[in-house]
Amino acid sequence: MKEQDFIPSTYKKTIEKGDYTWSSPSNIALVKYWGKKENQIPANPSISFTLEGCKTTTSLRFEKKINDNLFSFDVYLSGDKKDDFKPKIETFFKRIEVYLPFLKDYHFVIETSNTFPHSSGIASSASGMSALALCLMSVEKALHPEMSHQEFNQKASFLARLGSGSACRSIEGDLIVWGAHESIEGSSNLYGVKYPFDVHSNFKNYCDTILLVDKGEKLVSSTVGHNLMHGHPFAEQRFKQAHENMDKLIAIFKTGNLKDFIEIIESEALTLHAMMMSSMPYFILMKPNTLQIINKIWEFRQETGLHISFTLDAGANVHVLYPENEAEPIDGFIKQELAPFCQNNHFICDKVGFGAKQL
Ligand code: DP6
Repeated sequence: MKEQDFIPSTYKKTIEKGDYTWSSPSNIALVKYWGKKENQIPANPSISFTLEGCKTTTSLRFEKKINDNLFSFDVYLSGDKKDDFKPKIETFFKRIEVYLPFLKDYHFVIETSNTFPHSSGIASSASGMSALALCLMSVEKALHPEMSHQEFNQKASFLARLGSGSACRSIEGDLIVWGAHESIEGSSNLYGVKYPFDVHSNFKNYCDTILLVDKGEKLVSSTVGHNLMHGHPFAEQRFKQAHENMDKLIAIFKTGNLKDFIEIIESEALTLHAMMMSSMPYFILMKPNTLQIINKIWEFRQETGLHISFTLDAGANVHVLYPENEAEPIDGFIKQELAPFCQNNHFICDKVGFGAKQL
């Protein structure tokens, strides 16, 4: 599929008004997307676990208006009008207008809420943008009912990507690849695809407990961080490494080798932050407690032989990843030993999930 293939031909149906609701999850990358080209094209392929509990629910009400060549919408977060969200959505609408030519025909009311607290430091852009993209796809489906389930999901992912890159990995589950990779047929820079190969039972229901180390606003946004990969002295080597790590993970998913899995994902997390620290200007998103937690995890793993590991996204919070059959002792350790490093002892227990749902 090429970008132009997502431009629809004239719709046969018309629709005056309607209302759709989708709930869409967050995801956590194992091989990280960090660096992008124009039009939200990733500099390297990435793969993520879709999450189950961390979700955004978005309702889209729409009613026909005179096409005055303007976007018209209101946004609410948990019932509160959020005019400060409008510029981001306006930018999104501008980017996707060519693919959804009905956008200026309606007034939209977007009502959104997250299962995780807004000020948790958990990025809501993946779940939020994917939920909105899915609601808009439901409008398109009403205008073009012949669309298949596969076309629907692929275009939802394509549109979500234009809102926020990682959002394209939130439509389905449980493992999603985004970005063209030589060993994964069908993988694309334009949308996420389901991981197509065997996955060992060790990775079923994999647990992700998110430790909320810092709930504040990030000092440097992901978008700024991605851009700092242009002209970054280690960029080419990093992009090559991501391709290699994808290959290594393919073998690991097959055999279920958790030791090798941990090595790749922890290295990916630290490499992501190493890229930030070696950008110009450089920056650090980890906090002292992020490092305390990492060290505690390493000690506990050394002592017990349990397969506890961590990954990080572009922030100070730590995602603790572990297999379901080791959850009991690891959950106890998290509660006892790691929670004290979280802001207000706050952590969120999540696990791998299977994608967005229409409500
Ligand atoms: C570190 O998807 O938030 O979480 O495309 O600019 O919206 P934009 O960036 P975003 O970047 C996510 C970066 C990451 C790694 C990942 O999820 O792969």
